[in-house]
Amino acid sequence: MNTIFIDNKKYELKEIPEDTPVLWVLRDYLDLTGTKFGCGVGMCGACTVLLDNSAIRSCSTPISQAYGKKITTIENKEDKELNSLRVAWKTHDVAQCGYCQPGQLMNATSLLKSNAKPSKEEIITSMDGNVCRCGTYNKILTAISAVAKG
Ligand code: FES
Ligand code: FES
Repeated sequence: MNTIFIDNKKYELKEIPEDTPVLWVLRDYLDLTGTKFGCGVGMCGACTVLLDNSAIRSCSTPISQAYGKKITTIENKEDKELNSLRVAWKTHDVAQCGYCQPGQLMNATSLLKSNAKPSKEEIITSMDGNVCRCGTYNKILTAISAVAKG
């Protein structure tokens, strides 16, 4: 039996192979489908969640790396930075099709946890690996900048 904490809830995982990607555990075993599957090979960022507050690609991280640790997903309703970003996302009408946005939000959440007032350049660098096929990058930058300014 292996314990993980997802969005402040404790889960005891049974009979899940240790090399199963975190994304599969979230979506297929626990029915937490807010986290999205994009490329499946660590290239797009759609599947981003936080592992002990650092952004990880859940499609490429084995669940064994999360045992005993804290995972934060887009389904978390209590995370301060994530909630501030959610408001800014709405205010600045960021999402288009929306598919990449859970990953974008989680990556931005990780940035604000390590750096509450990032510069424009720091935001761009930090968000660089999260792909948006709809091209919402400018609005993402505006929304994160708004939260960073307070
Ligand atoms: S689905 Fe994980 S990086 Fe694309
Ligand atoms: S909003 Fe459509 S992929 Fe980003």
